[in-house]
Amino acid sequence: MVGPMAHLAAWTGWLAAISIVLSALVPLIHRLRAGKRGAPTSPAVRLHVTFGFVTSCLAFGHTLTIVPALGSEAATAGGMPALLPGGVAFFLLVAHAGIGLQLRNEKLRDRAKKRRAHMITATSIVVMVTVHAVALLRAH
Ligand code: HEM
Ligand code: HEM
Repeated sequence: MVGPMAHLAAWTGWLAAISIVLSALVPLIHRLRAGKRGAPTSPAVRLHVTFGFVTSCLAFGHTLTIVPALGSEAATAGGMPALLPGGVAFFLLVAHAGIGLQLRNEKLRDRAKKRRAHMITATSIVVMVTVHAVALLRAH
């Protein structure tokens, strides 16, 4: 196959990106419909945590499959401005999952602060992945 989806990395990258969006939609849709956040043990948050784990695995899988694509036309033409945001997104995702795991604890003391950190890291991940994907697509 030629074009943007020529490499396994492109497929795993888009899978991870779609999974990020789906993960975020679960608590956001719950909040829109219920008018309040889900409790840490609610079905919506449990489903969200499952999606979050799947997302983490897909992002990890993507970083393993990128190796053969590092010399691709898009990766070399896109260079650091395209690849670095990917690295930052992966780093943020690990931190984000750690904060998310703390949020599952019903007795968590500084929940407001941790929620804010979970939201800020989620938004930053989406921004970094968008920069990464758009820069690569433009370099094809
Ligand atoms: C949260 C983590 C990440 C996500 C969601 C993500 C997402 C994506 C997406 C959507 C694509 C497809 C772009 C296209 O169609 O060209 C892609 C490709 C790629 N990504 Fe990532 N990425 C992540 C982390 C990384 C990391 C850490 C690296 C390593 C520096 C990396 C390197 C690459 C490479 C080399 C490609 C293939 C470019 C090609 O098609 O030739 N990514 N990624
Ligand atoms: C292993 C990974 C993850 C775990 C364990 C986790 C855990 C949680 C928990 C327990 C909550 C409820 C927090 C509360 O209201 O007290 C939550 C909310 C949320 N999470 Fe995650 N999460 C993970 C991954 C993700 C991912 C990948 C995204 C998307 C980038 C995401 C975005 C959100 C959003 C937008 C909320 C709603 C925040 C709010 O309504 O204030 N999470 N997460």
